[in-house]
Amino acid sequence: MTILVKKGILAATPSDLLVIPVREGEVSALIKTIDQKLDGFIADVLKDEEFTGKKGQTLIIHTHHKIPAKRIFIIGLGKEEEITLEKIRRASAIIIKQALAHKAKRIAISLECLVVNKLKPQDVAHVFSEGVHLANYQFLIYKGKEKKEWEKDRITDLFCVETNASFVSSMKAGIASGTIYANATNYARNLVNTPAVHMTPHDIAKEAKKLTAIPGVKVRVYNEAEIRKLGLHSFLAVASGSEEEAYFIHLSYTPKQKPTATLAICGKGITFDSGGLSIKPAKYMDDMKCDMAAAASILGMFKTFGEIKPTAQIHGVIAATENMPSGTALRPGDVIKAYNGKTIEVVDTDAEGRLVLCDALAWAEKNLKPDLMIDLATLTGAAISALGQEVAAMMGTSPELMQQWKKASELAGEPMWELPLVEEYAELIKSPIADMMNVACVPWAGSSIGGLFLKEFVEKTPWLHVDIAGPAWVGKQILPYAPHGGSGFAVRTLLHWVRGL
Ligand code: BES
Ligand code: ZN
Ligand code: ZN
Repeated sequence: MTILVKKGILAATPSDLLVIPVREGEVSALIKTIDQKLDGFIADVLKDEEFTGKKGQTLIIHTHHKIPAKRIFIIGLGKEEEITLEKIRRASAIIIKQALAHKAKRIAISLECLVVNKLKPQDVAHVFSEGVHLANYQFLIYKGKEKKEWEKDRITDLFCVETNASFVSSMKAGIASGTIYANATNYARNLVNTPAVHMTPHDIAKEAKKLTAIPGVKVRVYNEAEIRKLGLHSFLAVASGSEEEAYFIHLSYTPKQKPTATLAICGKGITFDSGGLSIKPAKYMDDMKCDMAAAASILGMFKTFGEIKPTAQIHGVIAATENMPSGTALRPGDVIKAYNGKTIEVVDTDAEGRLVLCDALAWAEKNLKPDLMIDLATLTGAAISALGQEVAAMMGTSPELMQQWKKASELAGEPMWELPLVEEYAELIKSPIADMMNVACVPWAGSSIGGLFLKEFVEKTPWLHVDIAGPAWVGKQILPYAPHGGSGFAVRTLLHWVRGL
């Protein structure tokens, strides 16, 4: 689908679906102009249907060829003062769903009515285009008939027809950046949705290597023998149960000019989490191909660097392996030595995310010497119990970094909530026979305890841990732009964050 912004007259634009967003209590001048050609029909329908422009109200009206558009879609935005960028993102997704339901190939809309409440035309266009491309996403790689139908009926053009010429260039820029953010998110969704049999650690490494086509991006992939030489024994212990080779993947992006900062982002890349010998019950295992979602989001972020050209040097560090039970698998009770020399008693092999990330964090801090460090992981079911499917948990050692990240997450429409790293709970992961245990023997504060474990592997760098176990996977669709399956969560926050630095 291409989105085109131009100056012109919306009512005169040929399309299959002409979209009119309406603020509550206001019948726009545009509706009045069109209604003259429809002999007042729209006014009658609005009245009969008690359409006032409340948020969520929609109406579809056939034009009987009295204007060049086939149908008109009126969508209520709610009160003007309540219109936000997130509401625009959602409204644009609802528009796409309507277009798909009516097999409309060409959509026409004017975005200038959304430029209210001091919102900038560029930001309005950015979130509009994000919502459009995110809602248009479907995972059809494995489908037969449905894939063919989608190709036949797909939306081809979206025209943004504006009367205010001064908006056009900033809207064009917003549409372009929104498209980049959404495409990167959809790419991450594809990686997460691909079943574990086709998204092995080797496949993740292959995806990473493809990114070297981007100017400034380098990728180094370490195989198991090399990982052993590096001393990432905690990571290797998790990999020991799997037939699939594990890979430690280091991506780096260096800007052309002197970098404004050096950032390291570490990601959990468990391509399938069976739990290992502490095996998961079947109903908790069926979606565990999503346990590499953090790795997917890092790859999604890197994919944009040719276009967004960040000014910081950015490292991505991905620990990719399966977590499987077998005769060679890590056993509960085993003691392993991590990269930083700390010994870990593995009480539960299902708490494997922290075992791969602790090595990634310690390695990144020592070898990359970043100014700031973030890790992303589908780490704990406890994060889902606490915050549900739509909100990620975050915790860390730097209020400043936390604030930067929170701001980026708000711009992205990806909610995150801070949980405390309760120092007293660190006692709970002390082991009787090793330096620490990988789980605490209490059934509460699971996310904070995961964070406290990781904190032991960061010496001095300001660090933030983001547990995306909830929002990485959409079990039940709530947002109109995030269908069931991988969500690509955190790609857009990462992009706002790296651009803001
Ligand atoms: N990958 C899971 C966490 C997860 C659960 C992600 C649900 C997405 C959806 C993680 O490796 C795990 O199994 N964590 C355990 C930790 C526990 C043993 C301390 C959990 O949350 O049960
Ligand atoms: Zn697990
Ligand atoms: Zn896991």
